[in-house]
Amino acid sequence: MALLEARGIDVSYYGDIIVLNDASIFIEEGQVTAIIGPNGAGKSTLLKALYGLLKPKKGEIFYRNENITGARTYELIGKGMAYIPQARSVFPDLTVEENLKLGAWIFKRDRSRVSHALEVVYKRFPVLASKRNDKAGMLSGGQQKMLEIGRGLITEPKVYLLDEPTATLAPIIAREIYSFVADLRDEGMTVVLVDQNIRQAFEMSDYIYVLELGTNKASGSRKDFAGGLKGIIQDWLDYDTV
Ligand SMILES: Nc1ncnc2c1ncn2[C@@H]1O[C@H](COP(=O)(O)OP(=O)(O)OP(=O)(O)O)[C@@H](O)[C@H]1O
Ligand SMILES: [Mg+2]
Repeated sequence: MALLEARGIDVSYYGDIIVLNDASIFIEEGQVTAIIGPNGAGKSTLLKALYGLLKPKKGEIFYRNENITGARTYELIGKGMAYIPQARSVFPDLTVEENLKLGAWIFKRDRSRVSHALEVVYKRFPVLASKRNDKAGMLSGGQQKMLEIGRGLITEPKVYLLDEPTATLAPIIAREIYSFVADLRDEGMTVVLVDQNIRQAFEMSDYIYVLELGTNKASGSRKDFAGGLKGIIQDWLDYDTV
């Protein structure tokens, strides 16, 4: 059974320009599913649609076999979804702790639940604990990414949608972020990873979807792609990064 599934969705931002055209994805529980594809392929759009930020014009989305097409994001958070957008999303003028508390708004005034959730995040990311009263804008790029990941973890998600979590980070910091993602998977979380770093995405993932021009171009397990990857992506990939 899929934890999360999109079946043949069309999505546009405005007017009649279709950005996703009959796109489908099947996300198995407990796995890392990667979405790769060239710039403008619709990877971020697909994540936004799964997270309820964009409503499909056609097709359906299911979460644990429940039709969630058109459900609001706050409902999806309540069901166990978390998401980090591609663009940086920390509030630089708020403190680390205030940023984390924003992730807990769904708990409303349940203070003990919020403080427990904060402690769980601080335990995973000790650097955030030591900087809890610092303005988030003063953190390094890698620490800000940890803060974003931590903010999503506050609601104890079952499935985490990550849009290029290591873009713009130095390789050594990127490795640290990937290792956090691997920890989450090892703890049983389902991860959907959009990534420009094809090699890393392949190493991390159980199953891979290739999107091109808003539609499915290929998909398979890592084994299915063995040897065939370059053929599939030769049109758009800079080989240096493979
Ligand atoms: N807010 C928006 N309004 C209108 N069109 C948009 C918007 N965001 C993206 N698009 C268009 O939708 C298409 C898919 O964009 P999307 O951001 O989903 O691609 P992507 O695969 O994530 O690309 P990248 O690798 O650059 O992040 C592109 O043609 C883009 O120009
Ligand atoms: Mg994108």
